[in-house]
Amino acid sequence: MKIAVIGTGYVGLVTAAGLAEFGHAVVGADKAADKIERIARGELPIYEPGLEELLKSNLKRGNLTFSEDLDKTIRASDVIFVCVGTPQGEDGSADMSQIEEVSRQIAENLNGYKVVVEKSTVPVKTSSWIKRTITLYKKSDIHFDIASNPEFLREGSAVPDFLRPDRIIIGVETERARDILVKIYENAKDRLLITNIDTAELIKHASNSFLAMKISYINLMANLCEKTEADIEQVAKGMGLDPRIGNLFLKAGLGFGGSCFPKDLKALIKIGEDLGVDMSLLKETDRINAERSKLFLEKIKKALWILKDKKIAILGLAFKPDTDDIREAPSIKLIANLLNEGAVLRLYDPKAQNNMKELYPEDKTRIQYCRTPYKAANGANALLLCTEWKEFIDLDLKKVKNLMDNPIIVDGRNIFNPAEVRKIGFEYYSIGRN
Ligand code: UDX
Repeated sequence: MKIAVIGTGYVGLVTAAGLAEFGHAVVGADKAADKIERIARGELPIYEPGLEELLKSNLKRGNLTFSEDLDKTIRASDVIFVCVGTPQGEDGSADMSQIEEVSRQIAENLNGYKVVVEKSTVPVKTSSWIKRTITLYKKSDIHFDIASNPEFLREGSAVPDFLRPDRIIIGVETERARDILVKIYENAKDRLLITNIDTAELIKHASNSFLAMKISYINLMANLCEKTEADIEQVAKGMGLDPRIGNLFLKAGLGFGGSCFPKDLKALIKIGEDLGVDMSLLKETDRINAERSKLFLEKIKKALWILKDKKIAILGLAFKPDTDDIREAPSIKLIANLLNEGAVLRLYDPKAQNNMKELYPEDKTRIQYCRTPYKAANGANALLLCTEWKEFIDLDLKKVKNLMDNPIIVDGRNIFNPAEVRKIGFEYYSIGRN
């Protein structure tokens, strides 16, 4: 079976390399020729642990190749995974123009039976649109099938998530398509759930929104903890001991960011509203998340009062550890708020600095990017923690304290033990703990 993977973003790259690792012959395709050229040499446009090795070893084995010629790639394939972006449109709904473009291109190159598998996160009913588009534009009577196989990988652990998934959801409408997809995922057949297409599409949005809701819920509880003597870490631990709740995704902090949760939550709200369903529960989830940066700024002000000309170190710019991705990262809003207050910023992140520089270029007076967390802390009036990179958990806090002008830490991810940090001599503020 020859597989094409269209789109070389996070999902596309991991899918192409992962399917090749499963032993299939895969061509990754993207119309961005310069990107393809780099990837084909084994150079990754993103940072993702383990992906470069996976890519290189499969390029070497010869079962993974890349091409900027989408027409040729489509014609040569039996199965096409569509992994192009579905960015957020202005009204909150997902912008489906790239999916539509690829569908037309598939139609124009339909030279034999193919299964078109949507892997990008898309609103329920998208596959009906893909099917209609291909049917409208195809030039012959050739049959094709459509399927949905949503991807659940997390950035930072995308490779193991793909190679050893908890579940593989396959939405199909024919047995022929089902048999082909079951064969592709033969090595994980105990984890397959086969449904109809609408169900498969909805499972993806429903899962992401549920996890987002769990995070907003724990953040709401953290707000309550801050007004009482309760401790959010203990509350989360106590809740998580109930297997019906589970202990994952109960970490209070600056809220959720990234390319998925904020976008998918808004998209599901829009889908529901368009279908006449009351989506208030998810709207609150979104609102609580949006409030996190405001509440964090209040904490910083509680520590420093006036922020004008204060030297503030920010450790962690990525939306989560082990990635260079800053999309919807809480640090973005925080930087904007602090600059607005006239603060002077010293920024550090192990991987995401270059991405942040594109958004906030270095400027001698207000924004400086530092080579180490210690350089960022040097002379600072306060140190803010925005991402729980292991490097920060392992910081030599005595050294940090000696470097700072005022030993103040405002920890947005609860990475330190309050008693220990205070013992070293810091004034310490965190989330949902006193
Ligand atoms: C998410 C889903 O987990 C994945 O299944 C889907 O395919 C894509 O979206 P990702 O965005 O990579 O993956 O990151 P994830 O680890 O889920 O974290 C999302 C955000 O939630 C991050 O900003 C993280 O800091 C935040 N988060 C996560 C919390 O604030 N608390 C938690 O307990 C967990």
